[in-house]
Amino acid sequence: MNRDWLALYSVENETDISGHLLTIYDTCISLNAQHVLELGVRYGESSKALLIALARTGGHLHAVDELRDKFDAPAFAELRAERRTFYNGHSTTVEVPDLPWDLVLIDSSHTYDVTLAELRRFERTRCFILHDWEPSRPQHGVDRAAFTFLSEQPSIWALSVRDGFNGLGVIKRRE
Ligand SMILES: C[S@@+](CC[C@H](N)C(=O)[O-])C[C@H]1O[C@@H](n2cnc3c(N)ncnc32)[C@H](O)[C@@H]1O
Repeated sequence: MNRDWLALYSVENETDISGHLLTIYDTCISLNAQHVLELGVRYGESSKALLIALARTGGHLHAVDELRDKFDAPAFAELRAERRTFYNGHSTTVEVPDLPWDLVLIDSSHTYDVTLAELRRFERTRCFILHDWEPSRPQHGVDRAAFTFLSEQPSIWALSVRDGFNGLGVIKRRE
C-alpha cells in the first residue's frame, strides 16, 4: 500500500473524511513523522492514511479512543501489529507515552472544551490536524477551540484550512 493505493481507496470509499486522506498522508510524510498520536479512531479511516505514511517514514501510530478498538481492516493486519498501539481511554486523561510528537490528529468529541484541552495537553507537537473544522451542530467547537489556542501563542503556529468533507484544519509550528 502506498500513496497511489490511498488515492484510489479514498475515491472508491467515500466517507466524511475520505477527501482529506491524502492531505493527512502528505502531512505525515512532509514531517517525516516518527511519533504520531491519533485522538478518535472509530473504524480507522484516518488511521489508514497515517499507517501507510508511517510505513514509509518508519514511525509509529499511537491511537486513542474511549470506545473499544474497532480498527481491524484485514489489509492492515501487518501494519497494525508492527506500527500501531491502541489506548482505550479519554483523550484528555488517557496515559500515553511522553514522546516528542511530530503530529497529533484530533477527530474525537468535536466540542470546544475537549478540543481545547487536547490542544493544550499536546501543545509540544510539531503539528496538529483537526478534522470536522466546519461547525456542524450547536455543541461543535473545533474551530473556536483552535482559535482560542492560537490566540494564546500567535507567533508559534501557522494555520491552514481545507474545505469540504467537514473541513480540515492544519496547525503547524513555524520553523
Ligand atoms: C468521528 S470518529 C473518528 C473517526 C476516525 N478519525 C476516522 O477517520 O475514521 C470519533 C471517535 O472519537 C471517539 N471519541 C470521542 N470523544 C473522545 C474522547 N474525548 N477521547 C477519546 N475518544 C473519543 C469516539 O468514540 C469515536 O470513535
